[in-house]
Amino acid sequence: MNVLVVGQGGREHALAWKLSKSKQVSKIFVAPGNGGTANEAKCFNKSINVNNFSALEELVNSENIELIVVGPEDPLVNGINDYFKDSGVKVFGPTKEGAQLEGSKIFSKKFMFENNIPTGAANFFSESKLAKNYLQTVEFPIVLKADGLAAGKGVLVAKELGEAMQWIEDVMEKNKFGDAGNEVLIEECLFGTELSYMGIMTPKGFYPFETSVDYKPLLDGNSGPNTGGMGCMSPSPFMNSELLKNINEQVVEPTAHGLRKAKIDFYGFMYFGLMVKDNQPKVLEYNCRLGDPETQCLMLQLESDILEVLLDALSNNLENISWSKESSMGVVIASGGYPESYKKDQHIEILDLNEVKLFHAGTKKENGELLTSGGRVFSLNAKAPDLEACKKTIYTNIKNIKFNNMVYRKDIGDIYES
Ligand code: AMP
Ligand code: GLY
Repeated sequence: MNVLVVGQGGREHALAWKLSKSKQVSKIFVAPGNGGTANEAKCFNKSINVNNFSALEELVNSENIELIVVGPEDPLVNGINDYFKDSGVKVFGPTKEGAQLEGSKIFSKKFMFENNIPTGAANFFSESKLAKNYLQTVEFPIVLKADGLAAGKGVLVAKELGEAMQWIEDVMEKNKFGDAGNEVLIEECLFGTELSYMGIMTPKGFYPFETSVDYKPLLDGNSGPNTGGMGCMSPSPFMNSELLKNINEQVVEPTAHGLRKAKIDFYGFMYFGLMVKDNQPKVLEYNCRLGDPETQCLMLQLESDILEVLLDALSNNLENISWSKESSMGVVIASGGYPESYKKDQHIEILDLNEVKLFHAGTKKENGELLTSGGRVFSLNAKAPDLEACKKTIYTNIKNIKFNNMVYRKDIGDIYES
């Protein structure tokens, strides 16, 4: 079977790499892919934008692609599943309606309220004047969220009124995030330990993945600005049986039930972003995709054939997913300046790497030369009997990767409670 992976990050590299291990997969096309994806066995890059559905359709037809695996949220929210609905090709990822759980924070908040899923209290505003009036009445900190997709930048945890007022002005009056900021949520600030829980959602039920922890802040000690994720470890030391039971009973089951009630046939990855206090989860967000860099850890842990898992999920035949008992870890290597501005087109040198897997993200190949092309450049991953061993292997190898202004955290694998 020929498969198309849509996306270009480390997550998509990891998915393509794992698909390449399946005996049933003949060719994997990655659109657009990155400087590492085409190095994997059976993998080919196609320089097509993730939202150019007609160009993807031409590729699907010319290469007899039977399955499309969608990495990022954008094409899902834009309706890639609906576009291919009657074409015969299977799409792993929800319809436009299901993807609203990530694509509209107001839709997802209403969904949680209707289905009694624990989450922060929130009010919705479509006029900046009313939002500003309301802000005069609340206690700080408070959380401000643009309704639509804003490339991961649409949330502010505001510490005081001035900052919150400025955000409303930028987003609702000056259209900082375009139409994504036409409506906003003002939400209760939750405290506790942030945790993500991922898996595959189908109308038949939810199939959890091994647990994982993402390190969001840029700097050691979990300090500095938030990023897309600077590292990952799996399994998560924060999970315990009581918390797992609470997440399943209070969040996962009501979500699956709510989707069925709304007649949304959801077949795809689902990521619950949670805030946990005293083993009680509250939902911060839904994502209809896997996390990055969590996927890079999880694909190393996955023992099942991923193609079988995805096809079984799509045909309601998935029973269970097998995971290694070992640990895995990944350290993100970024361009200095990320998540703000950073230099691109930096020459990359990679010397010998041993017992690690290097997943590319912001890299490209030009005339055979490997160059940086993004903020997060690589995730260097290892799987070993325990996290200490993973850590040692990764940090020994990382010195063999070199480019100007390369930055990475030195403390991935350390445990921070909140
Ligand atoms: P979201 O995209 O909704 O997950 O928000 C991005 C980040 O903002 C989350 O990962 C949290 O760190 C933070 N956040 C979102 N909602 C809240 C909340 N209600 N209370 C505290 N922090 C929040
Ligand atoms: N690593 C967090 C995310 O992918 O949303």
